[in-house]
Amino acid sequence: MKVVVLGTAAGGGFPQWNCACSLCAKARNGSLPSRAQDCVAVSGNGSDWWLLNASPDIRVQVVGCAALTPGPGRRDTPVRGVLLTSAELDHCLGVFSLREGGGQHLYAPANALAALRSHLGLRDVLDLYAGWSWSEAVPEKSFALAGGLIATPHAVGTKRPKYAPELPGPWVVAYRVHDPSTGGTLLYAPCLASWSAGFEALLDGVDCLLLDGTFSAPDEMGVSTGHSKGQSSMGHVPVFGGGGSLAQLRRFPVMRRIYTHLNNTNPLLDPASPESAEITAAGIEVVPDGTVITL
Ligand code: MLT
Ligand code: MN
Ligand code: ZN
Repeated sequence: MKVVVLGTAAGGGFPQWNCACSLCAKARNGSLPSRAQDCVAVSGNGSDWWLLNASPDIRVQVVGCAALTPGPGRRDTPVRGVLLTSAELDHCLGVFSLREGGGQHLYAPANALAALRSHLGLRDVLDLYAGWSWSEAVPEKSFALAGGLIATPHAVGTKRPKYAPELPGPWVVAYRVHDPSTGGTLLYAPCLASWSAGFEALLDGVDCLLLDGTFSAPDEMGVSTGHSKGQSSMGHVPVFGGGGSLAQLRRFPVMRRIYTHLNNTNPLLDPASPESAEITAAGIEVVPDGTVITL
């Protein structure tokens, strides 16, 4: 399996358009690399590619990725479709930008499909352009992807997007993507509310984990923006602190562990920060946009 990490920033990207924090300033003056919003491309055979989430930066991300170059036919894109982890805008708005493509397939958890349809009008809009097929990503129910990969959604959260209706049940999934031909397995979980025994069980047999690294500290938003915005209700387990993911990840030294979906407030964006030194010492990574992983 080939994995291309197309984007590693949380909603708003890095730098964020309206943010003058010291980290965003460093991204603007080039002393830190800027980062597009989180999404990933995967392929089992190098010809059929699937997007895990479609960020608002998707056009630049697809055009900037050689493996996703269309051809030989005028509209022969290797992109077969999108698997959404949620209906959050930074993970789904890119689908609107892929409207020219016909015959693609979209997978998402039931609540997300409902919200995308009822509150974003995504399905009705796409149907007016080239028409996509839609399927529910049912937790624990695996499905085959063109190109030989097997994807399995796992429910990891009930946080609904601000614009979406109140609906019971899971709003957020992680995807386990397995390549039977190599035995390689990726777990993609950009939004994880808390580290649970249920989540930990998903790590069995995983070679590479792309994990929610939105916030380093539990009060990061409060510290950096002066108002907490109820960070704990945002559904992102922090990296550090007692309930943080780092303490848990230390127990999985064999697996490749990569933080993604980094908020522009996160000191892990700065490789010179003490926080970066601590995760690096633990063998955990933050990778640049465009990183290619072979599993
Ligand atoms: C999130 O990751 O929690 C959402 O994307 C929040 C947002 O961007 O509004
Ligand atoms: Mn997000
Ligand atoms: Zn900022």
